[in-house]
Amino acid sequence: MSHQLEVEALFDEWAVEDGAVDMAREHWARVEPVLSTIAVSDGRYLEIGPGNGYALEYMARSKFSSGHVCAVELSREMASISARRVQDLDNVVIDIGSFQAWQAPDGMKFELIFSMEVFYYFQDISAAIQKAADLLTPAGELIVMVDYYEESEASRDWSQELGVTLTRWPQGRYLEAFKAAGLHQVTQQIQYGGVQEHGLTLCTRGKKGQPEQVGV
Ligand SMILES: C[S@@+](CC[C@H](N)C(=O)[O-])C[C@H]1O[C@@H](n2cnc3c(N)ncnc32)[C@H](O)[C@@H]1O
Repeated sequence: MSHQLEVEALFDEWAVEDGAVDMAREHWARVEPVLSTIAVSDGRYLEIGPGNGYALEYMARSKFSSGHVCAVELSREMASISARRVQDLDNVVIDIGSFQAWQAPDGMKFELIFSMEVFYYFQDISAAIQKAADLLTPAGELIVMVDYYEESEASRDWSQELGVTLTRWPQGRYLEAFKAAGLHQVTQQIQYGGVQEHGLTLCTRGKKGQPEQVGV
């Protein structure tokens, strides 16, 4: 079985088991402090791997309710749970497939691209960061959050436990990849919250625009 099919099967199973409710609850505790600070916008939002759609729903209802919301999700079962959450909204499109193969409709660019706990399932994280950076508007921002990174002891054995190959980068590599993708004002922070059974979450964010001006 290919790596992508293994990941897809894993998340189809989690979705069918319990709707990924526990995972979403744990993640939301760390995601909420980040997404709640995003300004309300009538622009476009893209979420990569929304899982059961808890953050997608929040963004579609609270921050981009006057804008356009897209998601790309590999697992058909996860995508279907996400779709049910937002079925009353007409500003949300959820595509089923891999982000790597995904094509934005009509060359669409996004004001915000967000992803929680997805990028280490990618075999080539650099290429995914570059692809996301290329999908940003000139004022756009990319936010990537992961629990599985080199400095996180709690997640060390996940690849063995899940039976799926995961890509374990150190924090600094995310930082460098954001810069190499042409993003500016790149910052990192560690997000706390939830019961912390999975360790702490690394949040890397960067903007498409010009480097911050220093001095006058
Ligand atoms: C650990 S779950 C996280 C889900 C959600 N973002 C959350 O915070 O709970 C990872 C999600 O990424 C999706 N995923 C994995 N590889 C993907 C890919 N190549 N393209 C799109 N989605 C992917 C999985 O199907 C799964 O729903």
